[in-house]
Amino acid sequence: VRTLLLIGIGAGDPSQVTVQAVEAMRRAEVFLVLDKDSPADELGALREQICARYLPDGGYRVRHAPDPARDRRSPRYAEAVSDWHEQRAAVYEELLVQELPEDGVAGVLVWGDPALYDSTLRVVDRLRRRGVVEVDVEVIPGISSVQALAAAHQVLLNRVGGPILVTTGRRLRDGWPAGVDDLVVMLDSHCVFTEIAATDADVEIYWGAYLGTPDELLVAGPLREVADQIVRTRAAARERKGWVMDTYLLRRVADHPDQTGPTGQTGQQRPADPVSDG
Ligand SMILES: C[S@@+](CC[C@H](N)C(=O)[O-])C[C@H]1O[C@@H](n2cnc3c(N)ncnc32)[C@H](O)[C@@H]1O
Repeated sequence: VRTLLLIGIGAGDPSQVTVQAVEAMRRAEVFLVLDKDSPADELGALREQICARYLPDGGYRVRHAPDPARDRRSPRYAEAVSDWHEQRAAVYEELLVQELPEDGVAGVLVWGDPALYDSTLRVVDRLRRRGVVEVDVEVIPGISSVQALAAAHQVLLNRVGGPILVTTGRRLRDGWPAGVDDLVVMLDSHCVFTEIAATDADVEIYWGAYLGTPDELLVAGPLREVADQIVRTRAAARERKGWVMDTYLLRRVADHPDQTGPTGQTGQQRPADPVSDG
């Protein structure tokens, strides 16, 4: 049976690669890479740097294949994504058959953590269901951009005993989700926080782009005061580099005078939960 290692490599800083990830990388005889046809393939270069840094003696192969394009014009988002995953599964299948003996070990270097807004695990599920190649899968966790954001701003994501919702820009368009005062937003190419700034006072933002890289950008403050600055900073960076990846924490601060706990939608402060996890 072939082994497929899905290795989280952190969100941009090669020193975020864990010892467990390095050990897994050493087991892989071939790395499978789906190349995106976009300037963000500076990220591909970073994967190569990571291999060069942690596998200085070589001894591995890297096999590239073009990443099938997703149909971005389709009005049926879920269906378009599903088709795309199926096509990717077919590409991995072909690479595994061509590149790996029956008992071989292949690695896929996954940006951030494989469990957070990454399709590789879904694609691997598809691959298994196709029934052509049998694979044992191992997942090695990585530092996600969410952790990198919190560390860069030196903030806790949650209030004492409170929940956090991790969501996407696309979902935030529907408005602030009920029952939670702390949101982490990823995959927002439209600066949806500006819509929140228009409707919600008393929100703070902690924004970060290119986290962990030499280009890292950070802005934090009351959303209404810094939203325009973030839009401008983001646009200028995108112009300069051709791509941008950013993540942010939105925090409702009204009714949190002492930061003791989350509030409900009514704005009433609840008693702090008896927790010890900060
Ligand atoms: C496809 S998701 C991948 C997330 C990844 N699996 C993780 O654990 O961070 C891509 C999104 O992650 C966020 N992201 C990834 N790397 C980032 C970085 N270095 N700086 C800021 N945001 C980043 C952005 O929100 C981007 O739109």
